[in-house]
Amino acid sequence: MTDVRTVHVATGPGYDVRIGSGVLAEAAAASPGRRTAVIADTTVANLHGPVVLDAFASAGRDAVLIPVAPGEPSKDLATYGALLRRLASDRFGRDDAVLALGGGVVCDLAGFVAATWMRGVPLVHAPTTLLAMADAAIGGKTGVNLPEGKNLVGAFWRPAAVLMDVRTLATLPAAQIVEGCAEVLKHGLLADPELSDAIASGRIAADAPEDDLIRWVAASASVKAGVVAGDEREAGERAHLNLGHTLAHALEAASGHRLAHGAAVAWGLLYAAILSRAVAERCGRPYRDWSAPVRAFLTARPVPYPPEPAWEQLEPYLARDKKARGGTRRWVLMDGPCAPYLADDVPPDVERDAWARFRATVAEVRRARGTNGGDT
Ligand code: GLY
Repeated sequence: MTDVRTVHVATGPGYDVRIGSGVLAEAAAASPGRRTAVIADTTVANLHGPVVLDAFASAGRDAVLIPVAPGEPSKDLATYGALLRRLASDRFGRDDAVLALGGGVVCDLAGFVAATWMRGVPLVHAPTTLLAMADAAIGGKTGVNLPEGKNLVGAFWRPAAVLMDVRTLATLPAAQIVEGCAEVLKHGLLADPELSDAIASGRIAADAPEDDLIRWVAASASVKAGVVAGDEREAGERAHLNLGHTLAHALEAASGHRLAHGAAVAWGLLYAAILSRAVAERCGRPYRDWSAPVRAFLTARPVPYPPEPAWEQLEPYLARDKKARGGTRRWVLMDGPCAPYLADDVPPDVERDAWARFRATVAEVRRARGTNGGDT
């Protein structure tokens, strides 16, 4: 029997994140609803729906599985509307609940359904990808995309409970584990050097022992829980969770969304490290290099390469960043390991020079991967 770890998210009221092997069997106990709408994409519904429905049946509780199509396009107003209408036709009420079973798309979409159905019903998150365990399932951000942009509609809605079953990670393609590792690496860089070293040394992989996965997923959850507890509505330090994301969003857009989010974050972390050093040099800030785990991760793991357009071609995408204030870009930078700060006055020539160094470093990574046989 493997360990089950509990991470408490100390918002008011707080909630527990249970991390273990087989914790999906706790689904009925975790759901406060008379009935529970289990929202999952069709792939996840086939893989993990039966375990969840059995948990409710064994407890003598009612649950209905409501499938959606897999993929980001489901995180839209049409699917959101269809889910609300399904809850209406199935006569779900105020005393019922929603359980989000799946990756980030389903966490955000089903979370927004829970936030708005009957002005809000209890929500349980059961993330089934490493990316969603690291990010979407903790912190209460829910929402959908518009054709005009991602996550433009949403609400903060705290889950009542979160169940992270590491058995689900065994069903993921290796590329999705690598993607999730990027967000876990970010948490390590922000607050837990042991965690970033674990990622850099490849100790988090789908075939890792379950106890190790539980340990590192819990470590990542602790970092996010700590940040969210201090600033749930992102008035201040929660923005630090966007480390690497300013460039990542631009790279995703510049690639026509072919570069996956986690891969873009990994490269975004590299740019953030390079820019942090450049800003420290320009402004005379004390600086301790924190790029080693990022370089090690990018060299050792087959993270797909980013587009490398001229800086001027990236700038329109950077201008769309939600953190931008009054026309100036806002970066999350670090003066050293675990020392993040927000910078909104980075001189344009420093950004551009850092991009040139970034491209040179991507070339180094290509060469290193070529020599260690890990190129893709
Ligand atoms: N994904 C960043 C946050 O939850 O604030």
